[in-house]
Amino acid sequence: MHLDDAIDQTLARIDRAGLRRTLLSLDSPPGPRVVVDGRELVNLCGNDYLGLAGDAGIIQAGIEAAQKFGAGSGASRLVTGSPSCHGELEDALARFFGTEAALLCGSGYHANTGLIPALAGKNDVVFSDELNHASIIDGCRLSKAERHTYRHADITHLEQLLTEHRDGKDLAFVVTESVFSMDGDTPDLAAIADLCERHDAALIVDEAHAVGVLGAGRGAMAALGLTGRAAAVVGTFGKAFGSFGAFVATSAKIRELLINRSRSVIFSTALPPFAVGAAHEALRRIEAQGAAFETRLHEVAHELALAAREAGLSVLEPAAAVVPAIVGGEAEALAVAEKLLDAGILARAIRPPTVPPGSCRLRLTACVTHSPEDLARVHEAFGAIGRGSGAEPPD
Ligand SMILES: Cc1ncc(COP(=O)(O)O)c(C=O)c1O
Repeated sequence: MHLDDAIDQTLARIDRAGLRRTLLSLDSPPGPRVVVDGRELVNLCGNDYLGLAGDAGIIQAGIEAAQKFGAGSGASRLVTGSPSCHGELEDALARFFGTEAALLCGSGYHANTGLIPALAGKNDVVFSDELNHASIIDGCRLSKAERHTYRHADITHLEQLLTEHRDGKDLAFVVTESVFSMDGDTPDLAAIADLCERHDAALIVDEAHAVGVLGAGRGAMAALGLTGRAAAVVGTFGKAFGSFGAFVATSAKIRELLINRSRSVIFSTALPPFAVGAAHEALRRIEAQGAAFETRLHEVAHELALAAREAGLSVLEPAAAVVPAIVGGEAEALAVAEKLLDAGILARAIRPPTVPPGSCRLRLTACVTHSPEDLARVHEAFGAIGRGSGAEPPD
């Protein structure tokens, strides 16, 4: 078969399933409001939780780093791509997150696909939550370790798998997100940390949606008093930090191993200085205002949950800034997103394979700089959908 024909067939299958995706072109930074085709929309589907991506001070810090160190880093960290701004940010991250060390990575995807295979080898075993992000799944696949998936946030199932499969292996790892990217919930991290200790397993926590958001910016582990209980914590700069890139906060020894073993660190060009300078300024902001950011994010997330319920959608009380509003089928989710767009609200439908079939949703996200006017527009738009569908108003 010709490649073009094979691609046509694949795309036709995607179309028939109602799963064709398109790219949206923004003419503004990805903040609380975005400009699309000349229209300003209230943005409910970004990860720029603190509104820092378009912040003048953050952008200026990036520019200054680029002016000093260049537009790009020029090489992998192990060759010559290690300008001093990288090391300075790593030291600041380690201080803030209370770890011995930190290591910058090209992105959260690079972090997980580099970290897990560097730690877990062929005589080892990895236990992973079924809703973990694709980068964790790929990291587990790339490792040569035996893999087991436990039901989402199900401590009993994790314990059962540890009991059945830990023995006879050299090392064991449990990998979880602290705030799940599509469900917005937090697993019982204290119970997971206890299980890890009982079964001699190392804990890896991806805090992509929690750093800058929970624990006055230090993440969910810190919020729960669990700092130091994970062997490694992954955080990203592409979300609350408003920039790009990621880091692993960990021990000095694991950092040393990653520099020598993590293929995504060794074989990829280092983060550009702009991203590092901007992320460092974001860290300073989070250090200074993390508690206030957290309070405001909770308020906005609560408002979004209320609004979605006004449309008759099912929503759990959000643990952080992600508010999943479950719609059901692909067509219904697209229709709700379309109605919101007509009302000036950007909330894209999330469909399989990102979420399981039948659980299509609007993944609403709070931003500290969503204004009262933005939230009034959101309530109005969701309320109109609820009135159109005859949904009962929430208590
Ligand atoms: C939990 C989680 N981990 C990792 C990533 C990947 O991060 P990045 O976008 O920096 O590659 C994401 C991004 O969507 C995520 O949600």
